[in-house]
Amino acid sequence: MNWTGKNIVLGVTGGIAAYKSAEVVSRLRHLGACVHVIMTKNATEFVAPLTFQTLSANAVVTDTFSAPEYWNVEHVALAKVADVFVIAPATANILAKMACGIADDMLSTTVLATKAPVLVAPAMNTGMWTAEATRQNVETLRKRGVRFVGPGTGILACGDEGAGRMSEPAEIVEKIGEILAGENDLAGLKVLVTAGATRERLDPVRFLTNDSSGKMGFALAEAARDRGAEVTLVKGSTTAPVPENVRIVAIESAADLLAAMKKETPKQDIVIQAAAVADYRPAAASKTKIKKKAGEPLTIVLEENPDIAKTIGKTKKQGQTFVGFAAETDHVIRHAEEKLAAKNLDMIVANDVTKPGAGFNTDTNIATLITKEAKKELPIMSKRQLADVILDEVLGLRI
Ligand code: PMT
Repeated sequence: MNWTGKNIVLGVTGGIAAYKSAEVVSRLRHLGACVHVIMTKNATEFVAPLTFQTLSANAVVTDTFSAPEYWNVEHVALAKVADVFVIAPATANILAKMACGIADDMLSTTVLATKAPVLVAPAMNTGMWTAEATRQNVETLRKRGVRFVGPGTGILACGDEGAGRMSEPAEIVEKIGEILAGENDLAGLKVLVTAGATRERLDPVRFLTNDSSGKMGFALAEAARDRGAEVTLVKGSTTAPVPENVRIVAIESAADLLAAMKKETPKQDIVIQAAAVADYRPAAASKTKIKKKAGEPLTIVLEENPDIAKTIGKTKKQGQTFVGFAAETDHVIRHAEEKLAAKNLDMIVANDVTKPGAGFNTDTNIATLITKEAKKELPIMSKRQLADVILDEVLGLRI
């Protein structure tokens, strides 16, 4: 990893672990990185800005209205120069501010404005770390792609024992290195992701669909985007917030999805199909609202939809990597393996959608990654984490 020319912005908040952040600066400088420190007012009660100024060889920012004089730029300049934005130690207070988008000092303002990857090293009393409010803030931040290192467990400054110790400086620096190394590993690649549910019309006001929220596909699109890929997101019906800075192709039915995929797939390097596609559709959609006939059952005849993954699987070219998902309720691995072969996929992500914390409309998933050669059973993790693991595996397959 070449650290030269890399700009690391280090936010220091008010906690006893602030003294350990001096070592983070020292290590980063030793590696060749350029470090810019922003301290909150409370942080300056624990360590003098002069310590960070001396170690970083850069002026330390402590106040929104007294940026160093040589800054001939706007007040969030550091948000733009950062290759990685680190906050260590991160108090419960800064996590809460970040989760809510509060910008009331230089650090919270700059981190809100940055587009750089953000790494947070929490340090606080165990009670604060495990408090429901902090849990929810951490979850919110994780979902937005903020990365965490620690906290560790042990005797805390307040005498309590438990989770809340800031990670060691060496570990924080290692994590920054990992982020820098992995950050652009999909640069130059075109990635298409499908997400959400298809809708199969019965009449102008009714349709057949499923429980897909789009969360899994969106997490994949965001992860690919954050790693430098040019992302096309083919999305059906979804309830989750739609990712920014990706190209969206909206579809409704499986037939629309097939048409979109036939058009888009030839341009892609990587195609990941997380959408939940209806296998059947009403044979004849009524043009007018189907009227109730009291006392009479309604029979709907369904006809088979095209298998999109199978259809595009036949067109796969040298250099393209195709990944599918298998949403299963029984014989999960066997069924997933059959789909891997039938659809000419390079990898299939099998999820047992009956497991708590897996499948439809959850923030987490439990998956087994299956290729012709190997199976990797993964523990429960956030959909964003799983997305990164899937992309790591895809890159491994492309070597
Ligand atoms: O969106 P979320 O709420 O986050 O939920 C995530 C998810 C459960 C939808 C996701 O993890 C998942 O499992 N997606 C695949 C759902 C599905 O349709 O699985 P399947 O086993 O029926 O299909 C296997 C593969 O073939 C899938 O890649 C699917 O996109 C594709 N397929 C299926 C049917 C069809 N007619 N054409 C297809 O291309």
